[in-house]
Amino acid sequence: MFSASARPQLRIRARRALVLTTAGVLGAAGVLSLAGTANAASTLGASAAAKGRYFGAAVAANHLGEAQYASTLDTEFNSVTPENEMKWDAVEPTRNSFNYGSADQIVSHAQGKGMKVRGHTLVWHSQLPGWVGGLAAADLRSAMNNHITQVMTHYKGKIYAWDVVNEAFQDGSSGARLSSPFQDKLGNGFIEEAFRTARAADSGAKLCYNDYNTDGQNAKSNAVYNMVKDFKQRGVPIDCVGFQSHFNSNSPVPGDYQANLQRFADLGVYVQITELDIEGSGSAQATSYGKVVNACLAVSRCTGITVWGIPDKYSWRSSGTPLLFDDNYNKKPAYDAVLSALGGTSGGGGGGGATCAATYTRTSTWNGGFNGQVTVKAGSSAISSWTVPVTVTSPQKVSATWNGSPTWDSSGNVMTMKPNGNASLAAGASTTFGFTVTTNGNTNAPTVGGCTAS
Ligand code: G3I
Repeated sequence: MFSASARPQLRIRARRALVLTTAGVLGAAGVLSLAGTANAASTLGASAAAKGRYFGAAVAANHLGEAQYASTLDTEFNSVTPENEMKWDAVEPTRNSFNYGSADQIVSHAQGKGMKVRGHTLVWHSQLPGWVGGLAAADLRSAMNNHITQVMTHYKGKIYAWDVVNEAFQDGSSGARLSSPFQDKLGNGFIEEAFRTARAADSGAKLCYNDYNTDGQNAKSNAVYNMVKDFKQRGVPIDCVGFQSHFNSNSPVPGDYQANLQRFADLGVYVQITELDIEGSGSAQATSYGKVVNACLAVSRCTGITVWGIPDKYSWRSSGTPLLFDDNYNKKPAYDAVLSALGGTSGGGGGGGATCAATYTRTSTWNGGFNGQVTVKAGSSAISSWTVPVTVTSPQKVSATWNGSPTWDSSGNVMTMKPNGNASLAAGASTTFGFTVTTNGNTNAPTVGGCTAS
């Protein structure tokens, strides 16, 4: 009895009722927590999102229960990389027996807060369980491909980008491959094989090669460059190159950092800063951090930055105080430099200008879809209108929206939401809009950009 054009509206109403019910229950219980604050003016993640990038942190599952750790993560970052939990020794300690507990904990935390997840790492000579090193070539090949396939299938649709192969080249002037069980028994072709297996396992994930001491032009980065160029020419599936960017006084940010990122980008891959930390303190450390952020922003194919930890005390090299937050989660000068390079300002919302914050939360999930809700809150002045961009990952589709008026970019993946009806909000007042995402197999959280007020 209903016309074809009426049916979507019915679905919208059904979903809307579901959202209101969910929010009501949570609200009545007093535990409705809004996460993933996206204030363009005052957080790393939202400021990066306003520039079309993510800003992530390496996360350890065993710190998620620490309130300040979790709240700093949830407030400041919109991407995570498990620091150790997805490595081979953690997920496949004995052959064909997979243990995803700690990694799942991080992925589910991230998805609940609207963050991307980088997968780290599938094939690496370090943190390899003993049984792998003992295998003969044919067996090792099948173990490597099985590991990639099993782990990527487990996380299919949930990982934005995978470090498929990590650190396969030697330091120094040789440009040669590093000795490892994979290199020594399978030869140079193991990297290509790993990438081909990875694409077959999850065609929706970006596939990266990740390394350190490749941040400027040198023999090692030249060797990686030549490999990536060859892969692109021959159609070997590679989408991105990760530059770890572990810096200190012996290994400072290279003068040609941006040029090096750009030459890789010019090969047709995305580039990402994947493990950034810079030993030091005060303004010297801040200046170096600023250089890295500015370099990424200057390269259009540089899609995001991940710092290798949150507070200094949990860094793999904590004595060098290389991160953005001190041991008590105070923001360091390096934090201010990063925020400012990203175009943000500390203490956003003040100053009397028109500002607003957008806060995302997933309100319900079912097989094949989920509902997201964004709360738009005016800053310390009344605003007359607002816009918030929401980006979903193909093949996801936004199948319904409510309490807002969306416009779409040509890809169909970026929705810019504006108010429908009364657009004005008093100082500190808030409103919400919602949407349904049909996942089509990809349950990545949407990226909610910064709120722009007028
Ligand atoms: O969890 C065990 C604990 O139970 C045990 O008591 C303790 C004793 O040593 O070890 C703990 O495991 C340690 C683990 O970090 C978790 O803290 C390992 O020994 C230690 O080797 C491991 O270090 C990690 C390192 O990779 C291993 O190579 C660092 O946390 C991690 O930050 C670091 O990350 C790497 C990237 O994956 C690749 N690029 C370089 C980067 C820095 O080294």
